[in-house]
Amino acid sequence: MKAPDEVIHREIAERGVLSFARFMELALYCPNSGYYETKKDSPGRRGDFYTSVSAGELFGQLLAHQFAEWLEELRLSRVTRHPSLCLVEAGAHDGTLAKDILTWLQSARPELFGQIEYCIVEPSPCRQAWQNETLKNFAPRVRWFNSLHAICSSTPNSDLRTPNFSGIIFSNELLDAMPVHRFGWDAAKKLWFEWGVALDGEKFVWAKIPNSELRTPNSEPPSSIFHLPSSLLDVLPDGYTIETCPAAENWWREAANILERGKLMTIDYGLTNDELFSPGRTRGTLRAYFRHHATDDLLANAGEQDLTAHVNFSAIQSVGEACGLKTETFSTQAQFLTRVLEKAAKDESFGGWNASRTRQFQTLTHPEHLGRAFRVLVQSKQGAPHRLNS
Ligand SMILES: C[S@@+](CC[C@H](N)C(=O)[O-])C[C@H]1O[C@@H](n2cnc3c(N)ncnc32)[C@H](O)[C@@H]1O
Repeated sequence: MKAPDEVIHREIAERGVLSFARFMELALYCPNSGYYETKKDSPGRRGDFYTSVSAGELFGQLLAHQFAEWLEELRLSRVTRHPSLCLVEAGAHDGTLAKDILTWLQSARPELFGQIEYCIVEPSPCRQAWQNETLKNFAPRVRWFNSLHAICSSTPNSDLRTPNFSGIIFSNELLDAMPVHRFGWDAAKKLWFEWGVALDGEKFVWAKIPNSELRTPNSEPPSSIFHLPSSLLDVLPDGYTIETCPAAENWWREAANILERGKLMTIDYGLTNDELFSPGRTRGTLRAYFRHHATDDLLANAGEQDLTAHVNFSAIQSVGEACGLKTETFSTQAQFLTRVLEKAAKDESFGGWNASRTRQFQTLTHPEHLGRAFRVLVQSKQGAPHRLNS
């Protein structure tokens, strides 16, 4: 088993300066040794802060209440070619959120629970094994897929050229864990260049990727930074840094394209284009977390520290809309969960309120905790109406 830093050393030696996206991919996902392959039991936000999931089971219960409402709508319109109602989670990590959601559905919506197929999209065999262990009591209801496309090909009469999935596809803190490219602004030349990773002795150091400033609009990687108005570019300071995440945009496009009817939802740390490109935010949003502390040294401790960048929600929203999805909600987590709670509070099956739920709700919605920094995007597709047995 090779540690990520050994693999990165070898790739730099063979190919020269690596893109930061490749560095991040290896640091987080190197088979058997990347950060997400080995760090199973992070107590909070990857060992650092609270996550919505680690705050307690209320987050999963509120999501489950909302999902039940959406799945009931789909069941009533009975449009699916798939015999079950599908709830797809991607980035399920150790399966805790899935367990919270399924536990609530089983006790509060037993009839719906009996018809649900909970699909986890998980490319890593190691994480599939963790999830399997957490969800062993729900075994008949849960299925695993290596990719979004694999779900499509498992449905009856599948034809991968047409969308054929009805249900809900959702993720929590998935897109901010996808590899990002890092760009710098050369104010004198009025050009973006891409930052990469090189070696100085044994140490990883930042280096400009040769000829990266020759990238033109519409070239790879696809990115909103190439479409900024000149009025904004005129005031960006030299060295202004920003990330782009084609992996997240591609993932959202793939999810949108397999969805025939239903919802696509993500919850994550993120910003809109206007917030991201404010001239006051000069250093980008990439952060590393090492042993309970945020650190600026993004290139240290490869495989031992988490790397994450804010999601550009404007870019994700545009990708979905270009694929025919309608944006239903873009809000803070506080606004979204408060609306769900208002509905859940009128529903006896949601269960009584107590001090623990109050504490969890405050953590999830308080602006200084998780309420403001986390955003929720929900997009939907109506699909052509047709009957189940037609
Ligand atoms: C920050 S963790 C999210 C944990 C969990 N969703 C939660 O809310 O606690 C991100 C997870 O996404 C996984 N991941 C990254 N890329 C993925 C992909 N393309 N498909 C599925 N999971 C992915 C990572 O391995 C990791 O387990």
